[in-house]
Amino acid sequence: MTILNKNLESEFAAERTFVKEFLDKVPARNAISKEKAEDLKARIKALLLERNAVLVAHYYTDALLQSLAEESGGFVADSLEMARFGTQTSAETIVVAGVKFMGETAKILNPEKTILMPTLEATCSLDLGCPADSFSLFCDAHPDHEVVVYANTSAEVKARSDWVVTSAIALDVVEHLTSQGKAVIWAPDKHLGNYIQKETGAENMLIWDGACIVHEEFKTQALEKMRHLYPQAAILAHPESPMAILEIADFVGSTTQIIKAACERPESTFIVATDAGIFYKMKQMAPEKEFILAPTAGEGATCRSCAQCPWMGMNTLETLHNSLLNNSNEILVDRMLCEKAMLPLQRMLDFRQSQIAG
Ligand code: 13P
Ligand code: SF4
Repeated sequence: MTILNKNLESEFAAERTFVKEFLDKVPARNAISKEKAEDLKARIKALLLERNAVLVAHYYTDALLQSLAEESGGFVADSLEMARFGTQTSAETIVVAGVKFMGETAKILNPEKTILMPTLEATCSLDLGCPADSFSLFCDAHPDHEVVVYANTSAEVKARSDWVVTSAIALDVVEHLTSQGKAVIWAPDKHLGNYIQKETGAENMLIWDGACIVHEEFKTQALEKMRHLYPQAAILAHPESPMAILEIADFVGSTTQIIKAACERPESTFIVATDAGIFYKMKQMAPEKEFILAPTAGEGATCRSCAQCPWMGMNTLETLHNSLLNNSNEILVDRMLCEKAMLPLQRMLDFRQSQIAG
């Protein structure tokens, strides 16, 4: 159940206006010629070698960046595995193609390394919708609750938490906590929070009122229609999607779990409710299968993101090249803050390690 007080209700309204205004200023993704892309890729590969740097890209970034990460000995992954990879690489510099919270996570876990990003403007509506000061007040008002925050948050919010989790591990961690009889504050994604609460049956779970502007656009009626058009297809959905979408999905999981499901399930056609960037890896892993994007706004309608995260789209070959060339867009996190935020992040990585081991 979502419990909010009146002050927070009005604060959320302000956050939502801020997110919308920010979004209106985000430029559209731009195309690039094949020749220019190859030229930039070659330059970036040379710079990565020269700087002892490695490129880590999220599945939602442009296919050109994902292929470059793979070709240059880097890594393409979900936010959990991006964090784990950062702690395992011997490279001195990690270049994170994704959104700011991913760069900050890399810095918190590797304070001695240089973390660069193609842009520092790439944020996330979940991060924007959970300001550290009001979140901290909310936690103070419920001191008997374990504070579990999604990785899509600022370093300050992470530092106020007991656990940081990603979508790949959120369910397992909350299950673990509720089995110990602990009450949980969950922030900031309400859809993922509601899904976790439904799956775990967690009582006394307080859920922050944030949402992902990309996944919120998936529409149930249009999806039902699509299901009739492709009756043999399975629907795969990311848990940041609204509950009505998750209820009709055949599989709900993080980006990596969605890709795995597409490879392992018997169906040959999939309707996918998450950012379209994931299709690069899905097609690579299961080339014989067909992938269809879940509808975002119904026939003839316009949408603001059309299942493409506008902030992920700010990662381009040009911005990546500039950042490496000029050593610009370095992620800096205050040392004390790093130390505080490291604890709940490390708790997640240790939990993951214990799952792998046991
Ligand atoms: P994953 O952790 O599944 O990669 O998701 C990150 C994200 O931002 C989804 O919108
Ligand atoms: Fe944030 Fe949604 Fe973009 Fe993921 S897709 S980075 S949750 S706005």
